[in-house]
Amino acid sequence: MCGIVGYTGPREAFPVVLKGLKRLEYRGYDSSGIAVLNNGQMNVFKKKGKVAELEEDVIGKNVQGNIGIGHTRWATHGEPSDRNAHPHQSQSGELAMIHNGIIENYTQIKQELLSKGYSFKSDTDTEVLLNFIEDIKKNNNCPLEEAMRIALKRVVGAYCILLISAEYPETIFAARKGSPLVIGIGKGEHFLASDASPIIEYTKEVVYVNDYEIAIVKPDELILKNLGNEKQTPFITKLDMELAAIEKGGYDHFMLKEIHEQPETIFDCLRGRLLAQSGQISMSGIENNLDAFINANRIIIVACGTSWHAGLIAEYLIEELCRIPVEVEYASEFRYRNPVIHPGDVIIAISQSGETADTLVALESAKEKGAFIFGVVNAVGSSIARLSHAGAYTHSGPEIGVASTKAFTGQLAVLAMMALKIGYAKGTIDENRYRHLLVELESIPEKVKEILKDTSNIERIAKKYKEATDFLFLGRGYNFPVALEGALKLKEISYIHAEGYPAAEMKHGPIALVDEHLPVVFVATKDSYYQKIVSNVQEIKARKGMVIAVATEGDEIIPGMADDVMLVPDADEAIAPLLSVIPLQLLSYYVGLAKGLDVDKPRNLAKSVTVE
Ligand code: G6P
Repeated sequence: MCGIVGYTGPREAFPVVLKGLKRLEYRGYDSSGIAVLNNGQMNVFKKKGKVAELEEDVIGKNVQGNIGIGHTRWATHGEPSDRNAHPHQSQSGELAMIHNGIIENYTQIKQELLSKGYSFKSDTDTEVLLNFIEDIKKNNNCPLEEAMRIALKRVVGAYCILLISAEYPETIFAARKGSPLVIGIGKGEHFLASDASPIIEYTKEVVYVNDYEIAIVKPDELILKNLGNEKQTPFITKLDMELAAIEKGGYDHFMLKEIHEQPETIFDCLRGRLLAQSGQISMSGIENNLDAFINANRIIIVACGTSWHAGLIAEYLIEELCRIPVEVEYASEFRYRNPVIHPGDVIIAISQSGETADTLVALESAKEKGAFIFGVVNAVGSSIARLSHAGAYTHSGPEIGVASTKAFTGQLAVLAMMALKIGYAKGTIDENRYRHLLVELESIPEKVKEILKDTSNIERIAKKYKEATDFLFLGRGYNFPVALEGALKLKEISYIHAEGYPAAEMKHGPIALVDEHLPVVFVATKDSYYQKIVSNVQEIKARKGMVIAVATEGDEIIPGMADDVMLVPDADEAIAPLLSVIPLQLLSYYVGLAKGLDVDKPRNLAKSVTVE
């Protein structure tokens, strides 16, 4: 939530920061702004709307300077507007600051500052924190770094802040707690950002700043300190990411590119781990902790959004293949309700970004209670990856489209391998089924390729139903979470109201909605529930509902009953979601496109939700 970029070095800072903001726009895009220092002169440019609007707004203005900070916002405190856009300036005008996160006790601090005569130009918590720092600096007559330390010790909440000051014409001051910050190490220059995507084209050497650390960043010097003013040794990591991975590569949208990347990303996820011929799965995170899984009394899966849906599918997989009870929790609910966690419980955290605030905080408290945390994460080096005791990366590459697609199938591939590996070691899956599922899993990338070969039928269906105001998505068993995911994708991308439901449960309510205007999407591939779902389709048709079915190639019944069909190749039901979700991703993409919406940046959403 909110993207942050900073630069200090010999280059012109503005274009570097602006380009970085475009790369981080998936984190928020309701307003943006950049502050640069030019010979000690602070210039701030900000604009409501997407980064392109800021770019247009500065045409003809002097944006020179070799040090700059920039921000793309997802509003928390105060509506999206020029006034609330970051960077904010302190009362004296000397300091400029950007912030990702939420200062929870800002009202109290604001009251204190108001009583001292401060006034505020915005409604943000950021401006409060900034003036708080300025006030401490003035009263204590101390260096800025010291004032930051004092202020941050009083702050409750999450933050990643970058600060520049006319008094320090070459230095960016940064600090984080709960919101991510990466520093790229160049030759005589430094880059700061919320993730590595703005940095990758300049350097692959990065330092991930830890919570409660302050970074003092000059062109040729990086100092890290904790809030106790003790120096910390920066740990330099080499990025394993190419620039091409974060560009559109000829596709109209990141979402479409990412949908089409799935044969490769699933293959990359399985590569080196799944050895179907020799009947092996190699996953060091599981191997090194096999006892914890085998002896687990229960597994709790914690996640949000699409990752939560992957968790629901994992529940079916783990319970079937490993016979371990699984609970799937929304991180935001789990963390606040004082859950019962025993040492020996295994928590699986699923997160694309590895930065989702609710998931992160839920894990921190579970860790304190002695649970073993296993992370299924896409973003390498992210906060959740680092907090986990062990884990498995999904290797899906950077996902830029706000609605998750390839990360979801990467999660499913990892979770399927985990369930197979644990179940086999535990003896809860027989040799034949184990071998069969390995071969099935290995064939998934080719089958996804087949679905993606010709998407014109899905595009046609999308155009046909684009004016619908509601959709119902139904599925049973492994396909029930796929129905939920299909509904979520459609809501996110097309702004059409959609509900996902277990197909049998529809009789207890949603069937009342069915009439000739309601498209009902059935995820009805050939599995052990097939006969039952055929009956459910009939129940909808009897009430004049319009049925769109995801069905298995060669099926002769469902296509005859449905108004429209999207076919997928046959697969074992335990891994069929890896296929049945693909037409639903495409359906939402093409509906959004047909409605002329910004599919990569749907309104009000952000990719990485780093506020609670
Ligand atoms: C946001 C994104 C979703 C994502 C969810 C969880 O809502 O828009 O696509 O599924 O956050 O994010 P995570 O990074 O933890 O998977």
